[in-house]
Parts: sequence; C-alpha cells; structure tokens
Amino acid sequence: VWPDLGDPADIDYALVWMPEPGVLANLPALKAIFNLGAGVDHLLADPSLPKVPLARTVDPDMAMRMSEYVVFHVLLHHRQHLLYAAQQRRQQWQGHPQPAASEVRVGVMGLGSLGADAARKLSLLGFATAGWSRSEKSLAGIDCFHGTDGLKPFLNRTDILVVLLPATDRTKGIIDARLLSSLAQDGVLGGPVLINAGRGALQVEADIEAALDSGTLKAASLDVFEEEPLPPSSPLWHHPNVVVTPHNAADSGALPLCRGILEQIRTFESSGILRHLVDRQRGY
Ligand SMILES: NC(=O)c1ccc[n+]([C@@H]2O[C@H](COP(=O)([O-])OP(=O)(O)OC[C@H]3O[C@@H](n4cnc5c(N)ncnc54)[C@H](OP(=O)(O)O)[C@@H]3O)[C@@H](O)[C@H]2O)c1
Repeated sequence: VWPDLGDPADIDYALVWMPEPGVLANLPALKAIFNLGAGVDHLLADPSLPKVPLARTVDPDMAMRMSEYVVFHVLLHHRQHLLYAAQQRRQQWQGHPQPAASEVRVGVMGLGSLGADAARKLSLLGFATAGWSRSEKSLAGIDCFHGTDGLKPFLNRTDILVVLLPATDRTKGIIDARLLSSLAQDGVLGGPVLINAGRGALQVEADIEAALDSGTLKAASLDVFEEEPLPPSSPLWHHPNVVVTPHNAADSGALPLCRGILEQIRTFESSGILRHLVDRQRGY
C-alpha cells in the first residue's frame, strides 16, 4: 500500500485514486492501471502516466449510489423541499401546488454507466426523462439526444438538468451562462434546476451564481466544484437555493470495487482481455 511499495519491480497492477503525478512512472513492470473511480481526468493530466492499458471503475454499487443521489436531489427540488424547510424554520404551515412528476422534464447529460442508470430510475418514477450523449443511443422510456446538434433541443425541453459527464477537453466549462440560459423557462417548477455530480471542471461557478441571482436558474444541487474543498469564500455555501455536498455522491469505498478489479485481473491474465478501458484520445 502506497507509499510503502516494497520493490517497485514486483508490481504488476496498480489500483489508484488520484495518485501523485509521477508515482506510476516509477513502476517498471506495470501491466495495467485500474482507476478506483469512474472519472480519469486527474490521471490523464499526468504527462508521465505509463502507456499501459488503463481501466476505469464500472460497478453496480457505484451506479446504485449515484442514482440514489440523483433521485434524491431531483425529488428534493420537485417536492419543493428547500421552500418547506425554510417555512419550518419560521413555523409556517402553508402548502403550495405540487405538479405531477410527469409534468417535470428531467434531462440527464451523459448516458454512460451512471447517467443511463439514473435516467432509467427517474423514468420509473414518472418524470419525463431525456438524455444527451456524444454518440447516438436508444434507451427504453428515455428521449435520447446526441452530439452538438442535439444539445440545444435537449436543453430547451429540460426543467431539471442532471450532469453526469466526464471532464474532457470537449466538456470542460460546458455548464456556462449560455447553457443555463437555454434551459426551459416555462416549466411547472417556476424555473430550471441544475444538479451536477459529474466534475467541477464542467461548470463555470461565476455563471451559475449569476444565473441564480438573476432567476435564470431557480436552484442547484452541486456535489463537485471548480476547487475542492469548496473555498469558504464561495457564495454557493450560503445561497438559499443551493445544496452543497462534498463530492461524495457515489462514494463506494475501495472494497466493493476491488472485487470487480480482481475479476478483471484474472480474466486479463488468462485471456488478455480487459473491460472498461479508457480511450485516452477521447479522455474518458
Ligand atoms: N460525484 C461523484 O461522486 C462521482 C462518482 C463517480 C463518477 N463521477 C463522474 O461521473 C462521470 C460519468 O461516469 P460514467 O461511469 O457514467 O462515465 P461513462 O460511462 O464513460 O459515460 C460518460 C457519458 O458522457 C458522454 N459524453 C462524454 N463526452 C461527451 C461529449 N463531448 N458530448 C456529449 N456526451 C459526452 C458519453 O457519451 P457516449 O455514450 O456517446 O460515449 C457517455 O454517455 C465520471 O466521468 C466522473 O467524472 C462522479
């Protein structure tokens, strides 16, 4: 267990989460790298990363936890919980009209192992669910959009935007003023809601704050931030319509993930096949 690695030449496989840049370059016998998480942006940022196969985590435990987070926060905004929590603090007994889930249009950006699972569960709850991905997809019960041409129509029909994209050269900063102003302004919730559990690098926080202040954005649940931990000076900590969580939407812990990786290593040793390989060119 790092930093006590013994003889680096004895190490065939590295299981890593945000290793210090350069650490993996010092393992001369390395056959493959397994990332103990879904996002590999920090690994690919290391120019000395060895050119061996790099696999990321695709695990039912992680997908279940992420879908819990997404469903919980969609319901929190749908059921107007921030409003009721504020009323409770004032001992105010007052109901408000509650739209049906079928009247609320949720849009999931990223339909990979996590986004597709969350979209399926939201659709089962009755939300009018759509998704957006790089390549064309067909998912039962989900209205699928893809590519640059599909982005605007996808945003225009979305009341609650859930972001589960990887941070790549193409997606960094994608949640900006332009994207936020393209979300539906005519929805039954009285304004669009942003839920980002992908990566902080996807969002321009100054634009999110301005959109919240102007009313272009009604509320947000953010699990990831441009800088983590979120600095004490960030206005997002105190915004009445923002929920902040500390990048733990799908915190699986290493043990459940290691079982799947051991299976991967056995298969790789016997057949040379590795699943969930990262395409370094695409960045995810
Ligand atoms: N907050 C947390 O605790 C936490 C935990 C785990 C993961 N995450 C984040 O969640 C991300 C998603 O994980 P995953 O396992 O679902 O990843 P994944 O299986 O690789 O799926 C990524 C999805 O994003 C789409 N995509 C990528 N680049 C795109 C682009 N330029 N335009 C449109 N769509 C694009 C992909 O489209 P295609 O299907 O066409 O390839 C795919 O649908 C991770 O990368 C990580 O950053 C966060």
